[in-house]
Amino acid sequence: MALVASPEALIAPSVLPADFARLGEECMGLEKAGADRIHWDVMDGRFVPNLTFGPDVIASVRPLVSLPFEAHLMVEEPHELAPRYAEAGCELLTVHAEACPHLHRTLGAIRELGIDAGVALNPATPASAVAHVLDLCRLVLVMTVNPGWGGQSYLASMEAKVAEVRAMIDEGQHQVELEVDGGIGRATIGAASKAGAGVFVAGSAVFSNEQGFSHAVAELREAAAAR
Ligand code: DX5
Ligand code: ZN
Repeated sequence: MALVASPEALIAPSVLPADFARLGEECMGLEKAGADRIHWDVMDGRFVPNLTFGPDVIASVRPLVSLPFEAHLMVEEPHELAPRYAEAGCELLTVHAEACPHLHRTLGAIRELGIDAGVALNPATPASAVAHVLDLCRLVLVMTVNPGWGGQSYLASMEAKVAEVRAMIDEGQHQVELEVDGGIGRATIGAASKAGAGVFVAGSAVFSNEQGFSHAVAELREAAAAR
C-alpha cells in the first residue's frame, strides 16, 4: 500500500460494529461512501477478551472491495498470525507493542511478507516504545481507548502522547502515518487532529450515523480539518 502523504484526514472505518451477516455489503458501502481504508479489529480472546475476525473472514471480503485493508492485531502472538492475515489480503498489519517482546524482529518479519507494518500503543504504553522502530513502521496507532470493544469514550489524555509521537516522526523525518483509534467522532476528531493524528479509525461514529456512511465519512473529514 503506497504511503499516502495526504494533508487531508484519512478515515479508516472499523467494521467491528458492522452487521456480520452482511459484512461484504457493509464493506462495499464503506467504499462507496469514500472511506480511505477498512480497519479490521482482530481480537483473539486472550490479548483482549473479545473474539472477532479470522483471516478467512477477511479473505472472503477481499475480492468485493478495492480499498486497502489494515488489520489491527489485538492478539497475543502476532508474529504467528501475521502470514495468514497477509495472505488474506491485508496491506498493513498493526501489532501491539505490549504483545511483542521482540518488536523490532516482528516488524521486520511482517515487512518480509511484502506488506507494511504498524505499531499500536495501549493507553499506558509510552511513546518511547516506538523510538527505535520508526524506520520499520508505516504507521503508529495511538489507542484512545483501552482495546477490546467499540463504543467507548475517547481518552483526551492521549492527545499528549499523539503530540509526542508526532514530534518523534517529524524530528526523524520518518515517513510514518499517525493513527488514532477509539471514541473518534465529530466531537473528538478535531482535537486528535490538532494533536498530530492524520488517520482516524471510527466504528460507532460511522455505523450509528442516521444519515448513512457517506454523511458520516464526510462529516468526520470536515471535523478533522476544522480542528
Ligand atoms: C477497540 C478497537 C477500536 C474500536 C473503535 O479495541 O480497536 O477500533 O472498534 O470503535 P469506536 O469508534 O466505536 O470507538
Ligand atoms: Zn482498532
